[in-house]
Amino acid sequence: MKRTYLIVGHSSGIGLALTRQALDAGHAVLGLSRRSSGITLPGLAERQADVLEVDLATLDLPQTLDGVAYCPGTINLKSFRALKEADFLGDFRATALGTVGVLQATASALKAGQQPGVVLFSTVAVQQGMPFHASVAMAKGAIEGLTRSLAAEWAPAIRVNAIAPSLTRTPLAERLLSSEERVQASRDRHPLRQIGEPDDVASAALYLLGDQARWVTGQVWGVDGGMSSVRA
Ligand SMILES: NC(=O)c1ccc[n+]([C@@H]2O[C@H](COP(=O)([O-])OP(=O)(O)OC[C@H]3O[C@@H](n4cnc5c(N)ncnc54)[C@H](OP(=O)(O)O)[C@@H]3O)[C@@H](O)[C@H]2O)c1
Repeated sequence: MKRTYLIVGHSSGIGLALTRQALDAGHAVLGLSRRSSGITLPGLAERQADVLEVDLATLDLPQTLDGVAYCPGTINLKSFRALKEADFLGDFRATALGTVGVLQATASALKAGQQPGVVLFSTVAVQQGMPFHASVAMAKGAIEGLTRSLAAEWAPAIRVNAIAPSLTRTPLAERLLSSEERVQASRDRHPLRQIGEPDDVASAALYLLGDQARWVTGQVWGVDGGMSSVRA
């Protein structure tokens, strides 16, 4: 069945892969990012705006949505000593408050949808402590709390799930993958000896948005090459 999804952060990385996969599957996508995705495919409509600044009520969002994905996030890695209040606030705003704004603005459209699903993004660094991740892990920890709280509050009408990826080859992670040595070292850290590709994460997100996941809510799925749970 054709569904209508709002994908916030559709212009790059995992959100772009999710947009392509949803369109390939015949769904309609409204993509919302500061930049255009540059793709023109049937079923895609775009809005260009900064989701942290815009009044979402002015964007003429659909009255009915079958799913919402919120993809913006940060990889702000610094030692705990170097982190300033502005880092914590900036990461929390882009990650958690941005999600809250979008979900408050779309809750009634989701309620009007068919088997509606929300997909949020955490990180493997919430489940497994990693150095230099204090600010990011705190902000993403809020996403995991929100996922379970909203899944409870919105059941049975709307499902809410999250994906916690490990290192995935996207523009956000570019700096961490800037040489073949860094890529190989990152592969070697993962039990499955791979880093993620955007499509690996997007396919899990598309499943969770869809009505095949009608019995799945309140989950945080590691799509992480085994990083959070396996020692190989
Ligand atoms: N890549 C990884 O290794 C990794 C690992 C763990 C978790 N994650 C999480 O996975 C999610 C997706 O990551 P990604 O790597 O695909 O990130 P990405 O390549 O940076 O893509 C983020 C998307 O969000 C949009 N965006 C960012 N700020 C925005 C704003 N203020 N208003 C509107 N749109 C905004 C960006 O588009 P514009 O710039 O055009 O606005 C882009 O389309 C994030 O939540 C990230 O934290 C990623």
